Amino acid sequence: MQIDNVVAVITGGASGIGEAIAINLAKQGARIVLGDLNKDLLEQVVNKITDAGGKAVYQICNVTKDEDVAALMDKAVDTYGSLNVVVPCAGIIRDGLFISTDRETGKVKKSMTSEQFRQVVDINLTGTFITLREAAVRMINNSYKGVLFTISSVQKVGGVGQLNYSSTKAALAMWPKLLVGEFQMKNIKDIRVVSIAPGYVGTPMVKGMNQKALGSILSQVHLGRLIDPDEIADTIRYAVTNEAVNATCLEVTGGTISGMIAK
Ligand SMILES: NC(=O)c1ccc[n+]([C@@H]2O[C@H](COP(=O)([O-])OP(=O)(O)OC[C@H]3O[C@@H](n4cnc5c(N)ncnc54)[C@H](O)[C@@H]3O)[C@@H](O)[C@H]2O)c1
Repeated sequence: MQIDNVVAVITGGASGIGEAIAINLAKQGARIVLGDLNKDLLEQVVNKITDAGGKAVYQICNVTKDEDVAALMDKAVDTYGSLNVVVPCAGIIRDGLFISTDRETGKVKKSMTSEQFRQVVDINLTGTFITLREAAVRMINNSYKGVLFTISSVQKVGGVGQLNYSSTKAALAMWPKLLVGEFQMKNIKDIRVVSIAPGYVGTPMVKGMNQKALGSILSQVHLGRLIDPDEIADTIRYAVTNEAVNATCLEVTGGTISGMIAK
């Protein structure tokens, strides 16, 4: 698949990895449709792309709302006449322990709230579900060829203190095989599904982490530094152009050596 022919929809495209993917693909000639909650940042990213001669538009979109996501996909089709690459980068962390006990009494003093669990599942998992479903419906009905992505994480193997987040990322790593299995069953040959599992990437999400914890995590990464968001974007570009990459999860972690402890 040639990048310069594709229309790419990126949620969470106002910041971090989503922004980097948008800029990277736009440089290669892709037409970009960004969805996010943050209007100011969306405008900034669109301006960066168009000032450099690329093509991009945005739509305010809450990925947990079916109607917002449907409108985002319609914007891609209405503006650029196609829909080929979908990267759901909208995601959040709400870290905390399942159970916290008091040091002296050993009794439970706090636990992860249902809201803390649900928020992460709603945005990371249900949001990705809605995004890929709304895209797939349009791609199949209009014979648009392309790639659906999920953004998993090194935390798909589990991050202590991230029961909510790791649960969503483990599930998202599994989706390519489940979805491609369905496409195979229905003889839908033109849509691939690929998951990307980044390690620790230098974005606002990670820069906001406890820096001591981050330092100790990076000491277990062979690369020894945060991954640049553009290194993730390059992997997306590679996966789009190489049709043999399908129904799989690509890890881009810098070489994690042992189990990761988030906090
Ligand atoms: N940064 C990392 O190290 C890392 C590692 C592995 C996976 N990831 C994943 O990559 C994705 C992007 O992470 P990032 O580091 O770029 O984060 P980020 O915080 O920089 O960007 C996330 C974007 O999602 C948007 N967003 C949040 N809730 C939304 C909603 N309901 N609807 C629409 N947009 C919403 C935010 O406004 C923000 O612009 C996430 O899924 C994250 O879990 C990140």
